[in-house]
Amino acid sequence: MARGVSVIAIDGPVAAGKTAVGRELARNLGFAYLDTGIMYRAITWLALHSGIPVEDETALGELARTNPVDVVGDEGNRVSVAGHSLGPELRDSSVDSNVSVVSKAPAVRKALVAQQRQTAAEGKIVMIGRDIGTVVLPDADLKVYLTASPENRARRRWQEMRDLGQSVELETVLSETLARDETDSNRDDSPLKPAKDAWKLNTDGLNIEQVVRKIVARAKDR
Ligand code: DC
Repeated sequence: MARGVSVIAIDGPVAAGKTAVGRELARNLGFAYLDTGIMYRAITWLALHSGIPVEDETALGELARTNPVDVVGDEGNRVSVAGHSLGPELRDSSVDSNVSVVSKAPAVRKALVAQQRQTAAEGKIVMIGRDIGTVVLPDADLKVYLTASPENRARRRWQEMRDLGQSVELETVLSETLARDETDSNRDDSPLKPAKDAWKLNTDGLNIEQVVRKIVARAKDR
């Protein structure tokens, strides 16, 4: 492992494999791992739970500013926020269908990005999201932009939802995936796009181990 690689940013659209790859990569390197999507999900859950309309940017910003999101658990897939301990509920379809709108709000992004940068300050971290290489950690040592075809991404997401016991049509997941891509890519603040210096990696036909191996090899090269 090159001594220089300490901060790794992984971005990409819905269900490109970021979560599984990021977690395994961090384990492999002995690095910390932060899935920033879970933080946007936590604020979305809290807004829905508190009856805050997801169009009310001012209230959402205040909510995010006053309720830091603590990502907890060995897998980094639980949070503690405003006294709530949340896990699978962060993947509920109500959160899925509102999180893109909540994460458009600049004040929400500002609050969460500050927390994310603080987490990365110690280095040795794999951070995943949509704007990690472009906005949160523009000086990351290695930036990876994961992609996959919409059909493969929807199928992965559909399988995840089935594993969580949710019954949903593949077609519905595909159209929601495309809708979220659209919102994430076209928002004014920190849209989803590869950083200029990101390494683009298409994961179609590759399993998690294969993708991780490619990224580790790339990191060693640097
Ligand atoms: O990765 P995910 O599906 O859990 O992310 C949920 C939403 O959060 C996604 O629709 C876009 C938003 N998000 C974001 O805007 N910026 C990030 N760094 C991570 C996620």
